[in-house]
Amino acid sequence: MNGLIDKLYHENTLSGGEFAALIKNRKQADAGALFAKAREVSKRRFGNGLYIRGLIEFSNYCGNDCHYCGIRRGNRHCERYRLSADDILQCCANGYALGFRTFVLQSGEDGAYSDGDLADIVVRIRKAYPDCAITLSIGEKSYEAYQRFFESGADRYLLRHETANAEHYAKLHPAGMSLANRKQCLYHLKQLGYQVGTGFMVGSPYQTAETLAEDLTFIKELDPQMVGIGPFLPHKDTRFAEEKAGSLELTLFLIGVLRLMLPNALIPATTAVGTVDARGREQAVLAGANVLMPNLSPVAVRKKYLLYDNKICTGEEAAECRDCLRRRMESIGYRLTVGRGDYSGE
Ligand code: SAM
Ligand code: FES
Repeated sequence: MNGLIDKLYHENTLSGGEFAALIKNRKQADAGALFAKAREVSKRRFGNGLYIRGLIEFSNYCGNDCHYCGIRRGNRHCERYRLSADDILQCCANGYALGFRTFVLQSGEDGAYSDGDLADIVVRIRKAYPDCAITLSIGEKSYEAYQRFFESGADRYLLRHETANAEHYAKLHPAGMSLANRKQCLYHLKQLGYQVGTGFMVGSPYQTAETLAEDLTFIKELDPQMVGIGPFLPHKDTRFAEEKAGSLELTLFLIGVLRLMLPNALIPATTAVGTVDARGREQAVLAGANVLMPNLSPVAVRKKYLLYDNKICTGEEAAECRDCLRRRMESIGYRLTVGRGDYSGE
C-alpha cells in the first residue's frame, strides 16, 4: 500500500483500479503514513493556519427529495423556516464582527427566493462587505442564474456531486435528478469563473470502493478549488433511517488521499465529521483538512436545519462556536486565520 501512497504523493493521482485497491486494502499503518504525508503537504502550503468560513443556513425549504436528506421536500415532520434578506445581512454583520471574511449562504432548493431575490441578497452583501468572499450553496440552477449571481458578486459555489457513479446516484435521488445534470452545473460554475467546491458523503448506502474510486477520478478531472466530504449520517425521517453511519476512519483516509491529489485545495473538517466523533474535526485537520465552517445562523433556527440526526453545534451562538473551534484547534497546534482565504494554485 505504501507504494500507492508514495505514487499519489509524487504524481497526485492514481488510476481508478489503484484508487479502489488503495481503499480496499488500507490498513491502520498505511493511514499513519498517509496522514503524515498529507500534513506535510498541507503545512508546506498553509503552515498551521486554518481558514474559517461563516455558514448561514438561510432556508430549509427544499423542492428536491434526495433520499438521504432530512430537509427533503417529502419530510412532513421537518419544521420549515426561511430567513429574510435583512436576517441574512444581520448574520453577516455578526460574523464580520467576529472576524469572518467569507460568508457561505446555504439552503435547500427554495423556490420562494427568485433568482432576482438571491442576486439582490448577494449585491447587498457585496456592497456592505467588499473585503469578504461570498460563497453560495443553493443547489442546481440554470447557467443564466449562476451567471447572474456571479455578476452580482458571488465568488465561490459549493455543489457536491454526491457520487460519480450514475447508478449509485439514481439510488440516492428521485427520478428527475441526474448525475449528468449535476456535473453540467459544476462545469458551468467553473466556466463562469467561480471557485468551485464539490464532494460526497462517505459511507452512503450502496457506496463501494469502486464508486469511491470513480468519485476520486471525477474530482481529479474537475480539479475543484474546494472538496467537502463527510460521513453519511442517517436521518430518522428518511428511507435510510436504519442504515449505518459512514465511518470516521474511512472519511479521514479519504481526506488524506484528497490532500495528496489536490495539494492546494481547500478541504473542510465538516460538521458531519464532528458529529460522528467528538474529536472528528481535529482528526480531519490532522489528516489534511484546512478549513472550518462554524455556524452563523440564528440559534433559533439551528435545530431546524437537520440534514441528519444528532447534528452538533445547534445550540451555540456564533461566537461560542468560533471560540470552541479555536480552542480545539489550538489543542492540536493549529490556529484560525482571519482573511478571505482564497484558493491559490501554483
Ligand atoms: N441544497 C444544496 C445542495 O443540494 O447542494 C445545499 C444543501 S445540501 C443539504 C448540502 C449537503 O448536505 C449535500 O450536498 C449532502 O452531501 C449533505 N447531506 C445531506 N444529507 C446528509 C446526510 N444524511 N448525511 C450527511 N450529509 C448529508
Ligand atoms: Fe434539498 Fe436536501 S433534499 S437540501
